[in-house]
Amino acid sequence: MEQYLAHIEEALRKINLPDAPEKLYQPIRYTLDLGGKRVRPFLVLLAYQIFQKDIEKALPLALAIELFHNFTLLHDDVMDNAPLRRGKPTVHAHWNRDVAILSGDALMILAYQELAKIQHPDLANMLGFFNEIALAVCEGQQMDMDFETQKTVSIAEYMEMIRKKTAVLVGASLKMGAWLAGANTQEQNTLYKLGEDMGLAFQLQDDYLDVFGKAGFGKEIGGDILAHKKTFLLLSLQAKIGQNALNTLLEQPYANPQEKIAALRKAYEAQETDKANLAQVVQYSQEALQALQHLPKNQASQWLEYFIQQLLEREK
Ligand code: IPE
Ligand code: IPE
Ligand code: MG
Ligand code: MG
Ligand code: MG
Repeated sequence: MEQYLAHIEEALRKINLPDAPEKLYQPIRYTLDLGGKRVRPFLVLLAYQIFQKDIEKALPLALAIELFHNFTLLHDDVMDNAPLRRGKPTVHAHWNRDVAILSGDALMILAYQELAKIQHPDLANMLGFFNEIALAVCEGQQMDMDFETQKTVSIAEYMEMIRKKTAVLVGASLKMGAWLAGANTQEQNTLYKLGEDMGLAFQLQDDYLDVFGKAGFGKEIGGDILAHKKTFLLLSLQAKIGQNALNTLLEQPYANPQEKIAALRKAYEAQETDKANLAQVVQYSQEALQALQHLPKNQASQWLEYFIQQLLEREK
């Protein structure tokens, strides 16, 4: 698994970026060099290797998906007004908002440059599929923003929002890796569904870590609370204590943001919505693990199983 990651890092390092204009390309290099877990490109390579050995052929797809993901992060950090990413100042904080917007756009174009390198008779269909996924991510992101000011959001609407903003891209990483390797439609669909369930677990866990994570999380702790993000934690708390009590908790004057974060954290724990959230993470991970039985049994599918289990223990 380490070898795969080294492969991905090397390929990202080798992406040739011009020196000028500095404010366009430096933020891209900065973002890519900050690391990140590389979950999505890793999944592309794993899915590919379940069916084929020559993973070199899957690298452009793996890179494309990681570049696209990094584009979403640059814009997401502007939209969420986030100060920290991967333990370092975000691009909009380090440079400015305009720089984050344009460098983000350029990252998306770089993603399509990689997609264009794919050698496969189905490339046109693959692009069509990728575009559907990319638009779904935008839809999910807009729902996330709309929900900040929307008073009533159901758990089902929250699940649909995270499915779009996060889970579909995880599903696409696995499905497209398998597609490229010649897997049949049923195998591709199994991997897509498995990836969606993984992605749901992943985002539920991200929302949990946003409140309960340690400093090593690499992002500002409590940002979701301050932005009134509709998370599973918040919606379950609302279901338990009622909308009025939640409003009081959210709107009352606090001496500083830390106090507000502490008050919400305490309420989550008192009502055990933290435990309910973790139970959801486990449940969706179990779904993903169960889907593995419909796939060929080999080293790569075993690694996938191990990886899903490892993600349950992640702290960043
Ligand atoms: C962050 O994704 C955005 C979410 C979907 C939660 P990751 O947690 O995969 O971020 P990096 O790439 O490892 O930094
Ligand atoms: C990430 O959601 C979704 C996308 C980037 C499309 P978050 O806003 O929760 O991601 P983080 O926590 O900033 O990484
Ligand atoms: Mg964010
Ligand atoms: Mg966001
Ligand atoms: Mg988050």
